[in-house]
Amino acid sequence: MSDLMEYQAKELFAKHGVTTTLGKVVETADEARAAAEELGGVTVIKAQVKAGGRGKAGGVKLAKTADEAFEHASNILGMEIKGLTVNRVLVTPATPPVEEYYFSFLLDRSNRSYLCIASVEGGVEIEEVAKTNPDAVKKISINALTGVDEAKATAIVDEAAFPAELRDQAIKMVQDLWKVFVEEDATLVEVNPLARLEGDKLEALDGKVSLDDNASEVRHPEHEAFEIREEADPLEAKAKDKGLNYVKLDGSVGIIGNGAGLVMSTLDVVAYAGENHGGVTPANFLDIGGGANAQVMADGLDVILNDEQVKSVFVNVFGGITACDEVANGIKGALEILGDAATKPLVVRLDGNNVDEGRRILNELNHPLVTQVDTMDGAADKAAELANA
Ligand SMILES: Nc1ncnc2c1ncn2[C@@H]1O[C@H](COP(=O)(O)OP(=O)(O)OP(=O)(O)O)[C@@H](O)[C@H]1O
Ligand SMILES: [Mg+2]
Repeated sequence: MSDLMEYQAKELFAKHGVTTTLGKVVETADEARAAAEELGGVTVIKAQVKAGGRGKAGGVKLAKTADEAFEHASNILGMEIKGLTVNRVLVTPATPPVEEYYFSFLLDRSNRSYLCIASVEGGVEIEEVAKTNPDAVKKISINALTGVDEAKATAIVDEAAFPAELRDQAIKMVQDLWKVFVEEDATLVEVNPLARLEGDKLEALDGKVSLDDNASEVRHPEHEAFEIREEADPLEAKAKDKGLNYVKLDGSVGIIGNGAGLVMSTLDVVAYAGENHGGVTPANFLDIGGGANAQVMADGLDVILNDEQVKSVFVNVFGGITACDEVANGIKGALEILGDAATKPLVVRLDGNNVDEGRRILNELNHPLVTQVDTMDGAADKAAELANA
């Protein structure tokens, strides 16, 4: 699920007719000053990170002049909010809210449906309002087949009790936010605050959107533009380039497996075995999926061997549609492709379809770095031992 930054969410809002102000995204304090000058008047400097509570952390500041914009941007850029470094700020015209509301659409997994959450007590953390004044937070379930038409939008607005002067604007905005949710294949669209400005204008002052990556891959090639490279770990970025399903972890035992379930249980088994070997833990999650040919195996090993923390690698494969002999040839080919770049011990456990042939191929290869172990527990133990050596 990819979460978007506020400025990206607002771009999608604007695309679907939701009233919002885009402002300017900048990466230096000088650019912030120039942006503030260009916008004129009072501006707001807002940290762009994928975390909530930016305001509370000091990441949202009002700037009366362009020099103040420079000042605030210098302080906010480089700041850490919930462990994330702020690399860009949004400079946007200050439009002081008269009132702040909360609005969201989300995927309600437990009810296999969609849910709208709305409250005229917005601005602050909605979780807090839900605790102290639960009646003020309206939850309205949405039929996935009929969605949000004008009648449903009207029912939502009336249930949430938006002020009468804003009713028509709110009804339109709810429909437009629904368009963002459905047409962009989002799993969350949240506006907090949805603000009432001077002159009874309704505007999305903040925005949060999570996109469904599975949909983005096939249905929204344009979503690729939202990816922000430097945020990802360099190894994760490399893995992504090669189409691998990789997540970096903190430990020293590299893990490669086929199938997400098997890899997850491999992580558990290695962490457990590590308790007997100095507390070593897995260095990553890497699922090479069904087609474990030589190139995929080489790509996977290449990513893992480039992780300085990795001391040993556990290749755990259960042959299914891809038989063990193909995987064994994949490992053999990968070692040839990598040559001298392969420097760390590999513990290989093969089981399943055509296991005998797979093991024979690796025995015959007799590579100094490769140890075969027949059971998953035994292989985990060996990999942990080698990582601790
Ligand atoms: N353009 C603006 N003009 C005036 N005030 C603003 C503007 N944008 C935001 N604010 C004020 O700052 C507060 C915090 O802004 P915002 O909601 O964008 O960040 P946040 O809620 O702290 O961050 P997050 O949503 O990540 O938790 C808002 O509730 C609003 O009162
Ligand atoms: Mg907010």
